[in-house]
Amino acid sequence: MEYKVIVVGIGPGSPDYILPIASRTIAQAQVVVGSKRALDAFAPSDSKTKVIDRDIQGVLTFIAESLMTSDVVVMVSGDPGFYSLLVALRSKFTPSQLTVIPGISSVQLAFARMSEVWQDARLISMHGRKASDEDLAYKPNKKLGILTDHEHNPSHIAQVLMDHGWPIDGQVWLGEGLSYEEENHKKLTLGEARDITGFTHCVMVVMA
Ligand SMILES: C[S@@+](CC[C@H](N)C(=O)[O-])C[C@H]1O[C@@H](n2cnc3c(N)ncnc32)[C@H](O)[C@@H]1O
Repeated sequence: MEYKVIVVGIGPGSPDYILPIASRTIAQAQVVVGSKRALDAFAPSDSKTKVIDRDIQGVLTFIAESLMTSDVVVMVSGDPGFYSLLVALRSKFTPSQLTVIPGISSVQLAFARMSEVWQDARLISMHGRKASDEDLAYKPNKKLGILTDHEHNPSHIAQVLMDHGWPIDGQVWLGEGLSYEEENHKKLTLGEARDITGFTHCVMVVMA
């Protein structure tokens, strides 16, 4: 029997936003891989676990070895198809070795919180990476949804966007801890965002 790597999107964090099939799959897992926070929250107490840390090759090796004797459930935040470990998993395993269960992305929840559509937004990640000049360039009516990190935080990104022609009064919405009790939002202008601290890991929506 060939075992599978089951990549499960666990949504933005709160159990309220996990699909029933995702919860069921995790509850039945014998081997579970995920962030420490996700493992503490969702891994069955009798499962074998592995934290996703900076040693991605080590995580992939653990999954490959575990796969010889059982399925391996890999929990990723949000949706697996949007900036997750799925990219690394696809470099090691064939599509037929993988099963992907979608989740609600943090970006989807951000736009829902704003009562805004995202069909016309350019969605980019600056979590551990830079964005292209084309993505960042200002155009009238452009809408951006951006994943942030400690270094590429809203203050840094606000400056980068103004350097790419965005007006100082461009509208910004920040959402951190989405779906958690500590969820926090803020609406401000690009000029104000340039001076803001915090909101390091958030969804930043910018509209011209
Ligand atoms: C590696 S990316 C994962 C994105 C994920 N696959 C998704 O669909 O949301 C991590 C980034 O997603 C964003 N993020 C994830 N969960 C979040 C949440 N609950 N609230 C706000 N931002 C979140 C932050 O920008 C964080 O730095």
